[in-house]
Amino acid sequence: MTTNHVDQRTVRTALALAARAPSIHNSQPWRWVVGPRSVHLYAVLRRWLPATDTQGRDLIVSCGAVLHHLRVALAATGLANSVRRMPNPSEPNHLAALELHPRPAGDDELALAAAISRRRTDRRKFTDWEVPAAFVDELIERAAEQGALLRPITEAAPRARLLDAIREAAQIQEADTAYRTETAVWSGGYADVDGVPAANLLRDPVATGAGTARRFSEGLIEQAAGEPDGAALLVLATTSDDPLAQLRGGEALSAVLLHATAVGLATCPLSQPLEVGSSRQVVQDEVLGGSAVPQLVLRVGWAPAGAPLPPTPRRPIDETIERLVV
Ligand SMILES: Cc1cc2nc3c(=O)[nH]c(=O)nc-3n(C[C@H](O)[C@H](O)[C@H](O)COP(=O)(O)O)c2cc1C
Repeated sequence: MTTNHVDQRTVRTALALAARAPSIHNSQPWRWVVGPRSVHLYAVLRRWLPATDTQGRDLIVSCGAVLHHLRVALAATGLANSVRRMPNPSEPNHLAALELHPRPAGDDELALAAAISRRRTDRRKFTDWEVPAAFVDELIERAAEQGALLRPITEAAPRARLLDAIREAAQIQEADTAYRTETAVWSGGYADVDGVPAANLLRDPVATGAGTARRFSEGLIEQAAGEPDGAALLVLATTSDDPLAQLRGGEALSAVLLHATAVGLATCPLSQPLEVGSSRQVVQDEVLGGSAVPQLVLRVGWAPAGAPLPPTPRRPIDETIERLVV
């Protein structure tokens, strides 16, 4: 009988798929410790981007995203998992402990896992087709399942305030030399295993990114300016603001992105307005009405026609895995 046996090659396959998770500047700030029936997630502070992510929030949200990706990947490969978040108060970088139990995969888990390798961060302007309300409701439901709120920003006044907050944050960050240096180091590469490659960046983000795109190093994607953009703007939020809430925010981000990808929508996370204290406060008070703590802004819509975006690179998986000696 092999019913309770956890196959280590299957765990490695799931970890390799989970590594496709989005992370701030593709920094992949995580590592894994793998035991015979368990996987432990740790944050890697060496991969923190202090000038961009002054509070370390993006780092934890990124780890939440890889945690949810892993749970989906494990479930799809026949490994149900129960998770304890922040299992050890004396070790704050130990973000999660997963216990694994063999169980056949369900259809929903297979569909979400299939979306993992198709998902991309798409910084282009989307088409002018609206995102159907039924799809937005499904995304809200996915976030709620992970304990987070997803708020579509549809009314003119809060939407305008959100766009202002994005521009204000960009202006403040771009005036900071350390921010500009960090952004240059982490973007525009051609052969790195991390960072945002030129192939995934716009040549002119200001003209084509609908006024929301972060200004990275110059990219290779050309897009004509001036066409309308039907992207929905949504804010992902939690009810509190501690590392646990940020981790859950990241899990919800992953759930929303994978569901959006599964139904054919293009997505782009935008953390810039939440990285600057003043603009973050505007999003919390004037966009969300003070009711919740924003963890990320999302653009969701229909990708323009053209060649699909290439996948961004990842670090070799074995660099991120350590075996637990038992
Ligand atoms: C917490 C977080 C914040 C992010 N912030 C931004 C952002 O402000 N602007 C942007 O263009 N992409 C942002 N991204 C997307 C990452 O740059 C992207 O996930 C990474 O480059 C890997 O590419 P991929 O998502 O296509 O796999 C963010 C992702 C995460 C998880």
